[in-house]
Amino acid sequence: MQTENQLEKINRLEFLKKLGLSGASLMAVYCGVTMTSCKNADATTALTGGTVSYDMNTTSFSKLLTKGGYYVDSANNLVIANTSDNGYVAVTLVCSHEGQRQIQYSTNKFICTAHGATFDNKGNALSVASRALTTYKLTQTGNILSVVI
Ligand code: FES
Repeated sequence: MQTENQLEKINRLEFLKKLGLSGASLMAVYCGVTMTSCKNADATTALTGGTVSYDMNTTSFSKLLTKGGYYVDSANNLVIANTSDNGYVAVTLVCSHEGQRQIQYSTNKFICTAHGATFDNKGNALSVASRALTTYKLTQTGNILSVVI
């Protein structure tokens, strides 16, 4: 049995799972409780028609020089990662599962912190989501990364 303090430390989804809810009943309760957690992605589509550049010589983007490093560009709905087996990869910040802008990069895969969807280094869905993440063309010139959006 967990104490109330321990329960406060887990997120709402985990809490509902611990109550024994699963599948459709879990998502119905979760979405009903959080209201904003299950909105469709269409409200937060990425800006398009330009190129975004990241100078890894600057402090803000220098973590991209390290394998496993990533940067979340909320303004352009992008996540750029230095992957171990696919070089630099740019994907959308918007999850293909239920559209939350919560994609991050960890332990050699893209993850969504909303419901735990995982994606490989090419953006292909591994779990929870059934569709791949949108990926963007990325070029590198020296320490400058450019993403076409
Ligand atoms: S929105 Fe559900 S896992 Fe990303």
